[in-house]
Amino acid sequence: MRTLSGKARLAGVLGWPVSHSRSPRLHGFWLARHGLDGAYLPLPVRPERFEAAVRSLVDLGFAGANVTIPHKEAAFALCDEVTEVARRAGSVNTLVFRDGRISGTSTDGFGFLESVREQAPGWQASNGPAVILGAGGAVRSVAAALLDAGCPRLILVNRTPARAEAIARDLGGPVEVATAPRLADAALLVNGTSLGMAGEPPLEIDLSPLPPHAVVADMVYVPLETRLLAAARARGLRAVDGLGMLLHQARPGFEAWFGVAPNVDAELRAFVLQDLQ
Ligand SMILES: NC(=O)c1ccc[n+]([C@@H]2O[C@H](COP(=O)([O-])OP(=O)(O)OC[C@H]3O[C@@H](n4cnc5c(N)ncnc54)[C@H](OP(=O)(O)O)[C@@H]3O)[C@@H](O)[C@H]2O)c1
Repeated sequence: MRTLSGKARLAGVLGWPVSHSRSPRLHGFWLARHGLDGAYLPLPVRPERFEAAVRSLVDLGFAGANVTIPHKEAAFALCDEVTEVARRAGSVNTLVFRDGRISGTSTDGFGFLESVREQAPGWQASNGPAVILGAGGAVRSVAAALLDAGCPRLILVNRTPARAEAIARDLGGPVEVATAPRLADAALLVNGTSLGMAGEPPLEIDLSPLPPHAVVADMVYVPLETRLLAAARARGLRAVDGLGMLLHQARPGFEAWFGVAPNVDAELRAFVLQDLQ
């Protein structure tokens, strides 16, 4: 068992509820793979106890934590410092504790870009416009990451247009809000809504206007092969599933807490998938 500082390191995920989170399985896999002396725990915390719980983790010597629904905005508010991407997203999913201070970042956008690069080799954000369906917390982080990576134009389409307009206002730059997806010159189509998720209504969209080089990405990962992705593949388009984003967004936190940069590979995907199916 390797210890990097002579003592076991601790991290976890705060959510309410938290039993659905795949993060303990994912980080547990990496801890075992690298033979590290540490633990990553599910931490069910009610919203009204969130701040007290985080301060207790700092006192207990935790290295940090992930934050999931419904705590991402509260986490942003209590950080001593946040990264630029977290500031633009207005939310935090990864906390790092050092010398009693709490730093926060948002890694969903990073995870999304890494996943598209992995599953659609050769794709670059600068290839052309991206159309994003949805305007929730995950879309905020992904939209900021796409702009930072050089995407020339973002088109946001959401059931509640005011939420998309707020993102466009907060991000600035080449972001438009549309009432219907304009796919004819899109290099990337992203589903950032919960439509298509098991138990939710399907996402109804006609992919025929997309150009042949377009990539279609779904943030939904249950089921892994959504109807959107199946339709994209049937049209000969490259399709990127939501599991890659889930795995890659976890990398920066693991490295910050446990001191080792972990990899996403087929063995990890299969291990996490066993739990999803
Ligand atoms: N793969 C990953 O690692 C990862 C990470 C984070 C999130 N996700 C997935 O990303 C999706 C969004 O997550 P989030 O955290 O951003 O959630 P959120 O903040 O609750 O946003 C949900 C989005 O879905 C839209 N929506 C929900 N029901 C709809 C319906 N019946 N018709 C049309 N639009 C509908 C909402 O539109 P309104 O604004 O009109 O309500 C909103 O844009 C979820 O599927 C989540 O599982 C995946």
